[in-house]
Amino acid sequence: MNKATSEPWRVGVLFSQSGHMSVIEETQLRGTLLAIDEINSSGGLNGRELMPIIYDPASDNTLFRLYAKKLMTEDGVSSIFGCYTSSSRKVVLPIVERLNGLLWYPTLYEGFEYSPNVIYTGSAPNQNSLALCEYLVSNLGRRFYFVGSDYIYPRETNRIMREMLRGAEVVGESYVSLRAQRKDFLPIIRDMQRTRPDVIFSTVVGDSTVHLYQSYSDAGFDPKTLPIASLTTTEAEIRAMGFDVGEGHITAASYFQNIDSASNASFVSRFKKRFGADEPTNMCVEAAYFQVHFFARALVMTNSMETNLLRPVVLGSEFEAPQGKVAINASCSHADLWSCIGRANRAGQFDIVARSKAAVAADPYLTCSGRNAHFL
Ligand code: ACM
Repeated sequence: MNKATSEPWRVGVLFSQSGHMSVIEETQLRGTLLAIDEINSSGGLNGRELMPIIYDPASDNTLFRLYAKKLMTEDGVSSIFGCYTSSSRKVVLPIVERLNGLLWYPTLYEGFEYSPNVIYTGSAPNQNSLALCEYLVSNLGRRFYFVGSDYIYPRETNRIMREMLRGAEVVGESYVSLRAQRKDFLPIIRDMQRTRPDVIFSTVVGDSTVHLYQSYSDAGFDPKTLPIASLTTTEAEIRAMGFDVGEGHITAASYFQNIDSASNASFVSRFKKRFGADEPTNMCVEAAYFQVHFFARALVMTNSMETNLLRPVVLGSEFEAPQGKVAINASCSHADLWSCIGRANRAGQFDIVARSKAAVAADPYLTCSGRNAHFL
């Protein structure tokens, strides 16, 4: 094998290992590295190793922009695995579009976006919000209180949820800074006590999640009767807030560690072996993991990192992920994903209370306005 053919394939990895978003983004880094390790230990791709070029954007969008540009202009990278917040994706987007790269984005988001330079592997609103809305209205009631971090994802998600609620009442809507501390939630908790909703819908992300749930617990709310429902509170945030604080709260997600299948059990065991027995998996780990495998399969076929060659091979491809079989929907570059509702238990895991019968086709622009026919 000559030198040119044995050189590693260089890929960019951009997840925060510090700052207020690291509680979840670090887990996405781990999912990415697990997949890369697996690929390299089984001989690489067409005989060449995958080499991650990893930067820590430290929960700072300016650094996301700077490192994305550096990866593509100085480090010889065309595919980047990265971004959790929609605001970080929005700053990386013009860079990958201008330089014709490919951003692999493993995070649920607000939808209403399409770029030929992004593969979206987290849930769109028709795959999580819709299921959650149906479940909450059927099981808890029609008076909602919205609490979110103040940036595009929560504001857009609440706009969509308000539309999905069709006549149910939103009794309050409050936003806090992405760096919100415990004290910042106190007026909101008082507002919740005053307005007496049936359900709290949280789009708070990162470290602030811990402060919200802890303040809620301190105020004496009982999650058994008035849970916080979320699309972003995973096993990672529950672990950070304490299992006792998290118990009883509800999340809708494409994946939970608790999914009962042989392939998920094997995934969880490989993850724990690599990162520690106490490290849970979560929906963001899983998407970060399986998207590397989508990339790898396509690369074996193209034997080229060229976005124009790779992308058409990725579109329409399928993968047996830990959540079940998933596909990259060729019509919109978003993944068709499963839809689950989980309720956190005492052990920091989610008991799955509802699950789709198959992967739900991604519909990021909510063009199918009907109810989610796949949902149990
Ligand atoms: C998000 O900002 N997409 C969670």
